[in-house]
Amino acid sequence: MSEMTDLKAQLLAEIAAATSLEALDAVRVAALGKQGSVSALLKSLGGMSPDERQVQGPLINGLREAVTNAIADRKAALEGAALNARLASEKLDMTLPAPAFPAGSVHPVSQVMDELAEIFADLGFAVATGPEVEDDWHNFTALNIPESHPARAMHDTFYFPDEVDGKKMLLRTHTSPVQIRTMMSQKPPFRIIAPGRVYRSDSDATHTPMFHQIEGLVIDRGIHMGHLKWTLETFLKAFFERDDVVLRMRPSYFPFTEPSAEVDVGFTRDKSGRRVIGGSEGWMEVLGSGMVHPKVIEACGLDPNEWQGFAFGTGVDRLAMLKYGMDDLRAFFDGDLRWLKHYGFAALDVPTLSGGVGA
Ligand code: DAH
Repeated sequence: MSEMTDLKAQLLAEIAAATSLEALDAVRVAALGKQGSVSALLKSLGGMSPDERQVQGPLINGLREAVTNAIADRKAALEGAALNARLASEKLDMTLPAPAFPAGSVHPVSQVMDELAEIFADLGFAVATGPEVEDDWHNFTALNIPESHPARAMHDTFYFPDEVDGKKMLLRTHTSPVQIRTMMSQKPPFRIIAPGRVYRSDSDATHTPMFHQIEGLVIDRGIHMGHLKWTLETFLKAFFERDDVVLRMRPSYFPFTEPSAEVDVGFTRDKSGRRVIGGSEGWMEVLGSGMVHPKVIEACGLDPNEWQGFAFGTGVDRLAMLKYGMDDLRAFFDGDLRWLKHYGFAALDVPTLSGGVGA
């Protein structure tokens, strides 16, 4: 009896003195393990007389329970202390900068489209869109390019083999059909730009089967070529970020404008002979433009005596090449990460219209 009291006191003292989970486990094995002191007592119950067992049984089981509980309590205390120690030693500094996340870059085409949308937004132009799979009426006929017109052959059009609702379908060859879709679906006056993909069966260093254009259209009362010239001048100065941008308008021909003008920007050469936009040592063609042909206005159900306006169209990829100095158009669409890293733009450097207009 006193032997058991001594054992209990000794075990409880050992449990209390255990300062690590390993030390505590050693005490548990020495007491409750197969060869343990408490286990030996439990085993001894088998050899006792029933009377003796009745007295010793509860005592021994009580001892086992006390030791088991003491071990569980001590274990919880040690684990709590270990956790506190870890929490104290492993501080998380929320003010440290986060590790850099590999960021992509904005493709020059997307960048230039965003720049154009911003410039024209300042001039009061909204962004309009149209389908890339177009019918030949919107792409050609309504733009005063009837069947058999040589301009149709000039466009190297991708046609679809099947007609839809009796209409010949194609991949739009320019963004000009968005002029038609805008005039037919909304009420004048209009001031829109239409950036987007266009397709022509053509491929060399300066031509890819898919490329990007931006169209501009203004329809109102009393619009004249002076408005066109001012708009293009303002746009090109803003785009090339130079006040010395000089424009030259050359008489030209487009079926959907009359009169039509091709627009050149002047350049000078720097010391290494590279062309720099600004001045007028030489000229580069940058866009097509003109006064919207009365037949086009009529085809859209508007009265050309009441409504008139101007339109212009240009290649976005070409503008990007001129502004940022790339010389091979095909590289734009190769998806070469080295090229994208070199010519791409940091996503957050330049504010864009909400979401941008996309490439
Ligand atoms: N659609 C023409 C092309 O792809 C470009 C163009 C020229 C658009 C004159 C216009 C314009 O709106 O007025 O070659």
